[in-house]
Amino acid sequence: MLKFPSDFAWGAATSGPQSEGTFKKKHQNVFDYWYANDPDKFYDGVGPDTASNFFNDYKEDLALMRKAGIKSLRTSIQWSRLIDDFEKCTVNQDAVDFYNNVINAMLENGIEPYMNLCHFDMPVELQHKYGGFESKHVTDLYAGFAEQCFKLFGDRVKNWFTFNEPKVILDGAYLYQFHYPLKVDGPLSVQVAYNINLASAKTIERFRKLYGNDDDKRIGIILNLTPAYSASDSKEDKEAAEFAELWANKMFLDPAILGCYPEKLVEILKRDGVLWDYTQEELDLIAKETIDVLGVNYYHPFRVKAPEVSSKSLQDWMPDIYFDEYEMPGRVMNVDKGWEIFPEALYDIAINVRDNYKNIPWFVSENGMGVSREERFMDENGVVHDDYRINFMKNHLKELHRGIEEGSNCHGYFVWTGIDCWSWMNAYRNRYGLIRDDIHTQIKTIKDSGRWFKETSDNNGFEE
Ligand code: BG6
Repeated sequence: MLKFPSDFAWGAATSGPQSEGTFKKKHQNVFDYWYANDPDKFYDGVGPDTASNFFNDYKEDLALMRKAGIKSLRTSIQWSRLIDDFEKCTVNQDAVDFYNNVINAMLENGIEPYMNLCHFDMPVELQHKYGGFESKHVTDLYAGFAEQCFKLFGDRVKNWFTFNEPKVILDGAYLYQFHYPLKVDGPLSVQVAYNINLASAKTIERFRKLYGNDDDKRIGIILNLTPAYSASDSKEDKEAAEFAELWANKMFLDPAILGCYPEKLVEILKRDGVLWDYTQEELDLIAKETIDVLGVNYYHPFRVKAPEVSSKSLQDWMPDIYFDEYEMPGRVMNVDKGWEIFPEALYDIAINVRDNYKNIPWFVSENGMGVSREERFMDENGVVHDDYRINFMKNHLKELHRGIEEGSNCHGYFVWTGIDCWSWMNAYRNRYGLIRDDIHTQIKTIKDSGRWFKETSDNNGFEE
């Protein structure tokens, strides 16, 4: 049996905007607004209004998740739900009650809460008024919201996260148009990246003012790491991979853990005339307020080759003037989602964190397999027989285990996700859950993968 360390956390991840539904929300986040104004952009026209109905079903959902062996749950507090007045940072009492009830119900079910503060869900008012994280003022408002969360819920929540996947905010909202406000502006994406790192440091500063170095409380960030692999050993391809690694991973990893930006990245951005606007005081804050714990979302690697120079120019600066994506012959694909399946990268991440990032405590904060039309695999009792998901998790866990055996300080695996949930990219097309959600009846049924996860979590390991 492949056994994991005794303090290993077996969990699942979701987010407020993808599970709660918009019930009783006073404000919209960017996705609520986008859907209300352009529902056709969303698969099958399904929006965030009901999601998996967690707002109403949280008690039953949490009990069911515990039955599927989920002993820790990462979700998020929605800024656009909790706060009544964004400038004054006053709270909405209905929302406070809701999140209190959720946290209490988690603890009653023996589920450790891991709370994230931003899962791409900028309040639309702040997006329209200030450009969201384009503005440094919004980084202060954000830190204020975070402080409210610490004060309201910090007596019970020990693990906090300042952001989920900031890189996806850049890709979606500022480069490749899959998140509202659908801008295409490379230099602006550079500034947003910097401002998010700054917002994270400001949030950590508030946290430390409240908790000092209390060992019982930890704060971190969740990054989607996509190790960049070069298509060949040629100098050009390797340079492309080096930039891709800087841009996709190190731009967030380095400030979060080492407290500074990679010199090479700064040099390139400066040379291209797109370096972020910064002050020394801000850099000092980023240097001081580093994280205690790292969450790693891992789905797929980043394979790159040297760019086709002819079609790209410095005039319209975009990060991909430095690389093209590369479709490696023979790669294994999740065809439904269009992502390569490459578990070995999880081992590479483990070793990278061990060797280059102070061997900081970390955990897999998301990993999972999205499959469409899962009713294909459902029996007459509504149980989905999803061996493909069990194999996916096993293969990734084996690689993770190898990294841990070699000294990487990883202490958990959170599957995406517990109960099938909604997303802006795919609404309910691809299902990821250990538990199926019938979105018409809201009946929720544990899949085979949920039974396997329970056994694995109870045994702290699995038979290979
Ligand atoms: C992660 C995000 O990157 O991928 C989730 O944190 C998202 O919010 C998940 O749902 C799966 O992606 P998608 O687009 O298939 O829902």
